[in-house]
Amino acid sequence: MMEMRLELKNTERSDYYYTEAVKTLRTNLQFCGSSIKTILFTSTVSGEGKSATTVAVAASLGSIGKKVLLVDADIRKSVLVKRHEISGRPNGLSQYLSGQKKLGEVTYHTNVENVDLILAGPYSPNPAELLEDELFKRMLENAREIYDYIIIDTPPMLNLIDGAIIASQCDGAVIVVESGAISYRMVQKVKTQLEKSGCRILGTVLNRVGGEYGAGYYKKYYGKYYKKYYSKYGTDESIGYDSVRERVSCETER
Ligand SMILES: Nc1ncnc2c1ncn2[C@@H]1O[C@H](COP(=O)(O)OP(=O)(O)OP(=O)(O)O)[C@@H](O)[C@H]1O
Ligand SMILES: [Mg+2]
Repeated sequence: MMEMRLELKNTERSDYYYTEAVKTLRTNLQFCGSSIKTILFTSTVSGEGKSATTVAVAASLGSIGKKVLLVDADIRKSVLVKRHEISGRPNGLSQYLSGQKKLGEVTYHTNVENVDLILAGPYSPNPAELLEDELFKRMLENAREIYDYIIIDTPPMLNLIDGAIIASQCDGAVIVVESGAISYRMVQKVKTQLEKSGCRILGTVLNRVGGEYGAGYYKKYYGKYYKKYYSKYGTDESIGYDSVRERVSCETER
């Protein structure tokens, strides 16, 4: 396998609340059981924090000894290469799915402990068709044998079908919601789409909590809600959005 360095800027934040929130998310993913291995992170619209969250959670799982494959399946608009200053012209998922590269040629080790990576690869005009290909299924089957977790970053779901296609092949989905940015009705649409794909919704991540409110607000907010989330964790198997939220695990600070 090729070696590649991936700079993980988010996890280098010395921000206590962010780090703790990611740890909470990691723990609650583990609580979902060992059969939940392939997990996609989706959101309603662009910019809610999927890519940041997937990198942070992959690194966090890796740091406790879990073998993780991070897959950037956002073939339309990948940010990983640029954001993490990855040099050269690395191969990626689009090349594997279109038959140009073998799986071993698109999977990279990284400098991040226990985290391997498949980048999105060059832009392709037909990502949905590529993701529907048997090769994607085969990739996940192969990864299941090797890794404890396969964390998949996807495009937003409101207007793009890619996430639903990926979800149909995954054990679970996490919806990333940017605090205060998205209406209840829009997230409901995403939830319905995920249900149609037959993928279990594991919960939501409420991202960028309390941005306008300052540190004092965070403390009050976290103190109140962590208690609530912990006490309700795992008690509700229904999948209404509110009940999902009750079981959720992670809130990240702006
Ligand atoms: N909790 C956070 N605190 C601070 N900045 C954040 C947080 N989450 C995300 N960001 C920043 O917000 C921007 C958008 O995040 P990100 O790229 O992860 O969103 P995305 O959901 O993957 O977007 P897209 O759908 O366009 O791929 C990035 O600059 C990221 O660094
Ligand atoms: Mg993204």
